[in-house]
Amino acid sequence: MGAVKITLVLTISVCFKFCEAQMLRTEAYATVPQLITKAGYPAERHRAYTTDGYILQLHRIPAGTRSPRRSGATAKGKKAVLIVHGLLGSSSDFVIMGPERSLAFILADAGYDVWLGNLRGNLHTIHQSMNRSDPQFWEFSFHEHGKYDAPAMIDRILNITGLSKLLYVGYSMGTTTFFTMMSERPEYNSKIIAFVGLAPAVYLDNVKDFALLTLKTMDIVNVMRSRGMISATVAPELMQWMVGSMCGARTPQEDVCLRMTYAIVGEDYEQTDWTMSQTILSRFQPASWRQLEHFGKIAITGVFTSWEDGLWGKVKTYNLTNVKVPVTLLYGKNDQLTQTSQIMRLADQLNETGVLEDIRPGCSWPKFNHLDFVFAKDVGTLLNKPLVKHINKLYNKYGI
Ligand SMILES: *[C@@H]1O[C@H](CO)[C@@H](O)[C@H](O)[C@H]1NC(C)=O
Ligand SMILES: *[C@@H]1O[C@H](CO)[C@@H](O)[C@H](O)[C@H]1NC(C)=O
Ligand SMILES: *[C@@H]1O[C@H](CO)[C@@H](O)[C@H](O)[C@H]1NC(C)=O
Ligand SMILES: *[C@@H]1O[C@H](CO)[C@@H](O)[C@H](O)[C@H]1NC(C)=O
Repeated sequence: MGAVKITLVLTISVCFKFCEAQMLRTEAYATVPQLITKAGYPAERHRAYTTDGYILQLHRIPAGTRSPRRSGATAKGKKAVLIVHGLLGSSSDFVIMGPERSLAFILADAGYDVWLGNLRGNLHTIHQSMNRSDPQFWEFSFHEHGKYDAPAMIDRILNITGLSKLLYVGYSMGTTTFFTMMSERPEYNSKIIAFVGLAPAVYLDNVKDFALLTLKTMDIVNVMRSRGMISATVAPELMQWMVGSMCGARTPQEDVCLRMTYAIVGEDYEQTDWTMSQTILSRFQPASWRQLEHFGKIAITGVFTSWEDGLWGKVKTYNLTNVKVPVTLLYGKNDQLTQTSQIMRLADQLNETGVLEDIRPGCSWPKFNHLDFVFAKDVGTLLNKPLVKHINKLYNKYGI
């Protein structure tokens, strides 16, 4: 009841201020299982427990709309796919565009048992003893995502399904998580059929200057920390203000938020679904400062290095030769954050050890940018439908 009331009050107050700019869609506030159910698919919630005390919610779509809906056992005998989100993201990213466009639904309709992961820090995760106002809660980066979170989620899925392996799809930080896991926990090779990396974030030399400017010259993270901000969490009020003012322009060309975003991820007006942008923004998740700093360390050093003793500390390379499963890498031709040249560098390294299955553009659209992998207007036809065919192929070739 309380939550409903708060949501109502929030919606109304946001609306009073900003409805003029654009009506906030109800999708902005729905939970992920609600979004799945509303689209006509069965939804399940499960919990994965990490060995260091975090509790991660997993969302599952065990069947498509076209499958007969017998009670229980809908997923029996199906092949499992785990999808892991990127920075500021969550399980929501793979359902928010709806059944025609979002990867999770298209996979479910193709007969897969679809699992959507959530990495520590986002709002689908908690800790057994710490709360979010505890600075210790935020002491993590993708190192912990790879070392603890992904293994916990994989073990939970395999335990529930009784399967011995699954296929892992990562997007952006979800790929960094995969490569970190393989380096730190190589025993997980035996639980994975194949890996598909969308806009993989392992080498980021192209954002070195940006990282130096923000983390060294401006020292933004430490300034924020010294002001008592223990995480990169945008307060709901601030987000509303942003959505309503900077990001509430009537046309994409006038929108300051969009232009700032394009500077980082690559410009693509044509594939930006303007009707969805406020929903997407309002579902953004918190991040830890260390997540940003650890990516910064990779960008600044040019090395896929672990965190070790901090941003300016020792460099210790993650062991990519530990990856033993077939790897497919998909890049966006106009992705300015995870650029083609950087992904090629990763591909060359993986090819040397014989695990590179495929490296190619996610689609033929020349302006495909970093965010298009989840939010492009035509992400269903451009990326996801062909991707499901590729996943079928991987399962046929390597599946059990
Ligand atoms: C969070 O934990 C701190 C100490 O660990 C405690 O003082 C505070 O009351 C807790 N906050 C909530 C909302 O539970
Ligand atoms: C799942 O875990 C439980 C508890 O550890 C165990 O008893 C059960 O055998 C596991 N099931 C499978 C299929 O691995
Ligand atoms: C990386 O892992 C491989 C085995 O997968 C091992 O042979 C090699 O010594 C490791 N390299 C480092 C630097 O740890
Ligand atoms: C891996 O390298 C070999 C030799 O250079 C090349 O022929 C092959 O096409 C590469 N594989 C992929 C998937 O790019």
